[in-house]
Amino acid sequence: RRRLTHVDLARMHSAGEKIAMLTCYDASFAGLCDAAGVDALLIGDSLGMVVQGHDSTLPVTVADIVYHVGAVVRGSQRPLIIADLPFASFQESPQQAFRNAAALMVAGAQMVKIEGGVNMAETTQFLSTRGIPVCAHIGLTPQSVHQFGGYRIQGRDADGAARFMADALAQQEAGAALIVIEAVPAALASEAARRLSIPSIGIGGSVDCSGQVLVLQDMLGISAGRKARFVRDFMAGQTSIAAAIAAYVAAVRDGSFPAPEHCY
Ligand code: KIV
Ligand code: NA
Repeated sequence: RRRLTHVDLARMHSAGEKIAMLTCYDASFAGLCDAAGVDALLIGDSLGMVVQGHDSTLPVTVADIVYHVGAVVRGSQRPLIIADLPFASFQESPQQAFRNAAALMVAGAQMVKIEGGVNMAETTQFLSTRGIPVCAHIGLTPQSVHQFGGYRIQGRDADGAARFMADALAQQEAGAALIVIEAVPAALASEAARRLSIPSIGIGGSVDCSGQVLVLQDMLGISAGRKARFVRDFMAGQTSIAAAIAAYVAAVRDGSFPAPEHCY
């Protein structure tokens, strides 16, 4: 079985087939996600919170992501492998971003994710014209928690909505192959999904996005702390982790997740 690529995701998007994505940090869960039909696995810097126990994603290093990419690649065969560029590994310059993205690609990633819109368009162009597919992450970008003054929904007022749409279009224009939309009003996420030609992946976005992503530990109901509005506990009513992940894939594919209660 060959691994999916961003070209396969674009084809799914064109065909109207929903893309099911989850975060994953180790080989055991990677195997379960693969068997359940998850299309893309994100080695997210959320590992700083759910694996390392930090209270933000800021302390995560490139070496941490490299370590977990290796585990997820070894544990799976089919899903597209996307790796986060963590805080302070790409913001300085396109050159810094390339150097660190290259380390993730060498570890087995097929695409890197960067938080940013208009401000990171030059970086996306630099990477994507040098052999590194880019997933942009816009809306509530957790690495900017201190700038935001907390984990706050973005794009709520007219100015914020305009900035969000500009971010989406700038990243597409710069060559992003995929775009994650986090925690914005559903109507705004739907509008972005409609206006973009590249696939969009929602988390607190909209059911109109081309696909969905959740943090694995969140959708299994084993994360500490208060659960975000966009999280659904897929373990509820299931008797195994494999069944819960399969239920997630089915709910994304048939459009029953996210329901309005998971959106803003
Ligand atoms: O790190 C992460 O888990 C993420 C997803 C929530 C999109 O960036
Ligand atoms: Na992340």
